[in-house]
Amino acid sequence: MKTYSITVNRKPYEVEAEPDVPLLWILRDYLGLKGTKFGCGIASCGACTVHLNNNPVRSCQLRISAIPANAKITTIEGIGEDALHPVQKAWIELQVPQCGYCQSGQIMSAVALLAKKPMPSDQDIDAALAGNLCRCGTYDRIRKAIHLACENPK
Ligand code: FES
Ligand code: FES
Repeated sequence: MKTYSITVNRKPYEVEAEPDVPLLWILRDYLGLKGTKFGCGIASCGACTVHLNNNPVRSCQLRISAIPANAKITTIEGIGEDALHPVQKAWIELQVPQCGYCQSGQIMSAVALLAKKPMPSDQDIDAALAGNLCRCGTYDRIRKAIHLACENPK
């Protein structure tokens, strides 16, 4: 066991863990941040997507020992803390989720996309979210919600 310093949603944490424990386990089991979901565990579904320095990453495949001490990790709990993020507002307005299981990962990928490309095309959206699978097939509503978030960025 080693002690790791990580910053999640702007709060510093010290966690004691084996070096190969994935970030997803740290978030859910050590820190109690259950919004990030476990789907496949092999970086194939995107349910566990969080941001590492504003880039979407698969937390099921990111070992705690591979995270730089000064890295900024953001989870679904960390966006829209003061007010809902435009993506979250659009998700609610268009009632995007069905079972909801994939949705925090979808939202994290969408937020990362809009930070880099404020007016994405359908093709941009499909490319950026290609690794986020939805068994309920909400892809059409996801696209519409991302466009709606662009129209109402506040
Ligand atoms: S649980 Fe990480 S990509 Fe599926
Ligand atoms: S909403 Fe059910 S898996 Fe996407």
